[in-house]
Amino acid sequence: MNQWQPDSWREYPILQQPTYENVEQLKQVEADLNRFPPLVFAEETRQLFSELANVSQGKGFLLQGGDCAESFEEFNAPKIRDTFKVILQMAIVLTFAGRCPVTKVARMAGQYAKPRSADLETINGVSLPSYRGDIINSFPFTPEARMPNPQRMVDAYYRSGATLNLLRAFAQGGLADLHKVHKWNMTFVENNPLKERYQELAKRIEETLSFMEVLGLNSENTASLHETSLFTSHEALLLNYEQALTRVDTLTGKWYNCSAHMLWIGERTRQLDHAHVEFFRGVHNPIGVKVGPSMQGDELIKLIDALNPENTPGRLTLITRMGADNLEANLPALLRRVKQEGRNVVWSSDPMHGNTKKASSGYKTRNFDDILREIQQFFAAHKAEGTHAGGIHLEMTGQHVTECTGGAYKISEADLAQCYQTQCDPRLNADQVLELAFLVADHLKVHA
Ligand code: PEP
Ligand code: CO
Repeated sequence: MNQWQPDSWREYPILQQPTYENVEQLKQVEADLNRFPPLVFAEETRQLFSELANVSQGKGFLLQGGDCAESFEEFNAPKIRDTFKVILQMAIVLTFAGRCPVTKVARMAGQYAKPRSADLETINGVSLPSYRGDIINSFPFTPEARMPNPQRMVDAYYRSGATLNLLRAFAQGGLADLHKVHKWNMTFVENNPLKERYQELAKRIEETLSFMEVLGLNSENTASLHETSLFTSHEALLLNYEQALTRVDTLTGKWYNCSAHMLWIGERTRQLDHAHVEFFRGVHNPIGVKVGPSMQGDELIKLIDALNPENTPGRLTLITRMGADNLEANLPALLRRVKQEGRNVVWSSDPMHGNTKKASSGYKTRNFDDILREIQQFFAAHKAEGTHAGGIHLEMTGQHVTECTGGAYKISEADLAQCYQTQCDPRLNADQVLELAFLVADHLKVHA
């Protein structure tokens, strides 16, 4: 193998990249970004690494979620706050009802680049470059909007920084105080059919907090009651950007990608001899790889060894996205093989990307029952193989959108038009996420 450098990926074949016409501008943007401060600190990244090491050993659960794609247009405080709240709310249900420490990782503050099934989109005989996420081009179907523009990387950097700033403030500035979380949750679930179940849980949490108060543990003297940690992640697809934010950590002398705490490689760019695997093997962040139904055991072991040659627990999360109809045929053999070969990984389930359908109205959607079925099968497969079902990876939002069908509110295909906002994949809304949290917590308890 060659010597790794932040730019050694450039020698390899690469998929899913834009073609920038103004190469001088591209170089200027890369140079600028390379001088900008890092968005995250390597020490925080190591904290996540060690939490994931625990998860890989069966001592925790990874909750990863957020938009399919963040958008420049919907870059505002309520949106960030609502997604933060729903992640936290779900984590509380999993921690308390599932009795399991939960590591929270947001698909936020950098989730701006999207792989697409085709390079071009054709409408009424006109073909333009596909929309690849706001870090690359923009959504309207015009030649100007679809032209990849390097300046968008700088815009994405600043938005990621501002998002992170607010997330840190929420996490450490009191919004995440367990006593308060309990209160904002009450309005949040006002009309939810699961309200009673949620209130029961909230009551138990309150009793526990009062008991702890009697013992002298309160928000003032116990940090874990007052604040939380929320890590950030995104698909590191646009390597020009990721390289520019890759730095040597002064404490350890090692390379870290400082655009987020955790990065993952998508299903479409995980080829062993391609650029993304080359780039990822050299950075010391915890990383993920999407694993779809075509993955074979031999290929998976090679991929694991390329990305985690020292077999370090916490380094690698395999995010399986099989589809509810394919999971039973594909996942058990992979679990068996990885276990047999003694490789340390976190297994996480993305029940979204294998279950996308087109509604008769034309909307891209996912059904709540398929999502739940994939999660249930994921837990069952791990139980049967004696491995740890380590996490879930969701596309979700705190807004009350109608993008996925089903759930307690029984969103139908006809309802999708009511509030369909995603520019990319359909997301679970706040109610559907809460419902899922209870169902997953039941599994965690059973499988503990
Ligand atoms: C995604 O997570 O938004 C995505 C594109 O997933 P995948 O790589 O699994 O298709
Ligand atoms: Co998606």
